[in-house]
Amino acid sequence: MESSAITHSGDRMRGRLPIRPSARFEIAGRTTIITDASSGLGAEFARQLSLHAACLVLVARSEEALQKLGDELKKGHTTLQVIIIVADLATDAGRALLWEKVDSLEIKPSLLINNAGLGDYGAFAEADPARIRAQIDVNITALTLITHSFLARVQTSAEKPAGIIHISSLASALPIPDLAVYAATKAYVTSFSEALTLELAERNIQVTCVCPGPTPTHFGATAQRSPDKDIDRTGQDLLRIPPQRVVTEALNALTRRKACIFPSKRVTLAAFLFQKMPRPLLRFINHLRLAKSRAKP
Ligand SMILES: NC(=O)c1ccc[n+]([C@@H]2O[C@H](COP(=O)([O-])OP(=O)(O)OC[C@H]3O[C@@H](n4cnc5c(N)ncnc54)[C@H](OP(=O)(O)O)[C@@H]3O)[C@@H](O)[C@H]2O)c1
Repeated sequence: MESSAITHSGDRMRGRLPIRPSARFEIAGRTTIITDASSGLGAEFARQLSLHAACLVLVARSEEALQKLGDELKKGHTTLQVIIIVADLATDAGRALLWEKVDSLEIKPSLLINNAGLGDYGAFAEADPARIRAQIDVNITALTLITHSFLARVQTSAEKPAGIIHISSLASALPIPDLAVYAATKAYVTSFSEALTLELAERNIQVTCVCPGPTPTHFGATAQRSPDKDIDRTGQDLLRIPPQRVVTEALNALTRRKACIFPSKRVTLAAFLFQKMPRPLLRFINHLRLAKSRAKP
């Protein structure tokens, strides 16, 4: 699939850069690092990029899942180089291992998919401190420091720009009770990304922030504290799109040098409403949702 064949529809929320290179961002032939690649959106990025990439560096903790994905990708693309790095990106040691391997193999990445992220459904006061910490470590610390280390290694010119995709969330557009830490970490990701988009433009590095709505992956199962405890999911069916579409829209947004997108028209509209709604009204709606979910047996 050529990059021009990627369909797109969810890039209406935020505009283009004030000073924008006119050329499309070319994703073909790149060496790409994908964090959290063993399942969900990360694995789907690997699948779609395998059609374009020269080399994919897949990072996560589950070696078996990464190996299986690597074998699947290489089957159809004999010239594709796939490098598996098993690392816990929540830790300094895990991130150091990632860059040691990249440097020792003399890999020169020019695209980073910073997809790392997890949530925790339920009241903040009752949260396991380890899960609070894991969200901050992965969603904020890992994403920020991996981007920083990538920038130290990337060589660019006007002819050879580099790219970064940060996976944020629709949750970045509003505070969410019973998902409070996660939503706050994603607000950080969106803010950080949009600042970097401007800072890095002069270095020929395109930063694109992608804010998906609900999409079926292992995210919900990881975020749920126990099978009988869930959050209120009213309205999610209207917003849910498959991971394949999220990734296609993300890659298309990068190709078109978008700063920030909310994949799908409905998610774009929801984000617009959440951002423009008076805060007292947003708090009232959140209060009703919380009361409804607490009333459940
Ligand atoms: N699914 C949604 O509805 C949704 C909506 C909006 C945004 N997002 C965002 O999309 C991104 C991807 O999530 P997903 O939906 O694809 O979830 P997922 O299916 O649960 O995948 C999460 C991935 O993260 C890896 N991971 C978790 N902790 C890690 C760590 N400490 N070190 C290395 N890898 C780690 C997991 O692999 P290992 O267990 O092998 O490490 C897995 O590959 C996240 O940033 C999430 O916040 C998801």
